[in-house]
Amino acid sequence: MENKEVKVLAIESSCDETAAAVVVNGRDVRSNVISSQIDLHTLYGGVVPEIASRKHIEKINQVIEQALQEADYTLDDMDAIAVTYGPGLVGALLVGVAEAKAVAYAKKKPLVGVHHIEGHICANYIENKELEPPFLCLVVSGGHTHLVRVCDYGKYEILGKTRDDAAGEAFDKVARAIGLGYPGGPKIEKVAHEGNPHAVEFPRAKIDDGPYDFSFSGLKSAVLNYINGCNMKGIDIVQADVAASFQKAVIDVLVANAMRAIDEFGMEKFAIAGGVASNRTLREALKEACEKKGVEFYYPSPVYCTDNAAMIGVAGYYDYIAGKRDGLDLNAIPNLRLGER
Ligand code: KG4
Ligand code: ZN
Repeated sequence: MENKEVKVLAIESSCDETAAAVVVNGRDVRSNVISSQIDLHTLYGGVVPEIASRKHIEKINQVIEQALQEADYTLDDMDAIAVTYGPGLVGALLVGVAEAKAVAYAKKKPLVGVHHIEGHICANYIENKELEPPFLCLVVSGGHTHLVRVCDYGKYEILGKTRDDAAGEAFDKVARAIGLGYPGGPKIEKVAHEGNPHAVEFPRAKIDDGPYDFSFSGLKSAVLNYINGCNMKGIDIVQADVAASFQKAVIDVLVANAMRAIDEFGMEKFAIAGGVASNRTLREALKEACEKKGVEFYYPSPVYCTDNAAMIGVAGYYDYIAGKRDGLDLNAIPNLRLGER
């Protein structure tokens, strides 16, 4: 192959972050611009889809311009345009997809639609230059909890997933219940530091017919019941203890399922991805468990764990060099499944 740099402009707008990035040769992030709407949605206690779409439209051109500027490139320098086309909020996704199609058409550039979860997984390649498949990846975000066997670039096998709430969703809901507000993950992590993780015994769900599946709705209900019980008895809840005990229950299940899969499939490398993967207590627990097994543990920096476009640029690069192309009929698919094309 010709020794040419492949430059990808990546666009991400699946939820409440408007993001654009320039990634060279799949692992070299030249810019990673993120315009977060968190402050806006905090007012409503969660993401309001209609507001998210409107904000994406306001910000997207600006974010792309800044990403190109910071990378010191123009649109003409790009070899491909990569964009998240699912899963996510349909109106939000459509903004990025329409923008990517317009740019690809105007500048006659190849268009590559990227799966959002594939992007999260690929975030691990950015700072771990030596990491290559096969490896096992635990994807824990606000919308997804997947245990994925990464067989090769672009080749995934889902071993398990959540039957109800995603891990991040559970963090967000419990945070709201104990008065911490949105987004719950980072807030629970912060207060949990001051709390006792053994203060309240919350359940750890095991699923008989799905050894790698997860369920967090029972845990969420248990926390709500505990709070109601305390209120009825006139006992003040200790926010930090509830946060720490809840967080421990989530982490225990994530670690147990991941370690079971590592053993079963003889995996030598393990990675984590998604917003919840930025949780330091989770990282430490997984690191320790991996060390015990002699398994190499990989994780992205927090900025590459939560939604960003750099990860989409990485996944888009591997799709691009594998010859994947999308036409101008590319559509947003809100419930797109991993491995589906
Ligand atoms: O990957 P992400 O940015 O968006 C989705 O694709 O869903 O993940 C957002 C989720 C939210 O539920 C947020 O509460 C959670 O990740 N999160 C955390 C932490 N930081 C973000 N959960 C636990 N601990 C954290 N430090
Ligand atoms: Zn995400």
